[in-house]
Amino acid sequence: MAADPRSTTPHMERYYSKRAAEYEQIYQKPERQHELEWLRRRIPELLANRTVLEVACGTGYWTQFIARKARRVYACDINQSVLEIAAEKPIPKDRVHFFKADAISLEGAPSGCDAAFAGFWWSHVKKSGIEQFASNLAGRLEPGARVVVLDNQFAEGSSTPISRRDAEGNSYQMRHLASGEQYEVLKNFPSGAELADAVRPVASQAHLETLTYYWLLVFTLK
Ligand SMILES: C[S@@+](CC[C@H](N)C(=O)[O-])C[C@H]1O[C@@H](n2cnc3c(N)ncnc32)[C@H](O)[C@@H]1O
Repeated sequence: MAADPRSTTPHMERYYSKRAAEYEQIYQKPERQHELEWLRRRIPELLANRTVLEVACGTGYWTQFIARKARRVYACDINQSVLEIAAEKPIPKDRVHFFKADAISLEGAPSGCDAAFAGFWWSHVKKSGIEQFASNLAGRLEPGARVVVLDNQFAEGSSTPISRRDAEGNSYQMRHLASGEQYEVLKNFPSGAELADAVRPVASQAHLETLTYYWLLVFTLK
């Protein structure tokens, strides 16, 4: 039987469902404000006037900024609890549609989008599943579409320490919720070379912007 690239997902789904109400605290870390400010400008600019498929949108933190410049945004997540928080945001309802979908199968996602955005999702996909994610996503988008992927750099003293690595090289962190519950969560920190290898089958060009706390990968589909 083939390995399930999403084997940690039900566990992670539960973790993010329980974390929904406290999720956006991650955007309050003082040392990250300068870079976040830059990203809040840069990402919507990259997606301006495009029809965007956003995967694993969570509480709609990035959706709200993307929506200011995009033509339309279709934003999905597997967890109803985060989608409900997203729906409460002052986001123009005529141009943004939130729906429930798995980020890998993308079943139910519309066709015809000429852009995609994924924030802090890539790092939660096993190394063995990342090519499938990239190819499924590409299959949903128009040829020549622009894909923008934002995720974390590992930053000593700011990032949650890595608790273990598995045989495939995936790394994990122990995460604590305000309730005291503890979850082991898959969280990878890919190198630039790994990112380039992962998108090569679907991309005609790719550009990586590396900051202290984040990386931003922008690629154009063939
Ligand atoms: C780190 S959060 C990122 C949320 C949002 N993109 C952001 O940047 O603020 C990861 C998100 O992935 C969602 N998720 C977990 N498993 C998923 C799956 N199989 N398909 C789609 N979303 C999933 C969680 O519900 C959570 O909202």
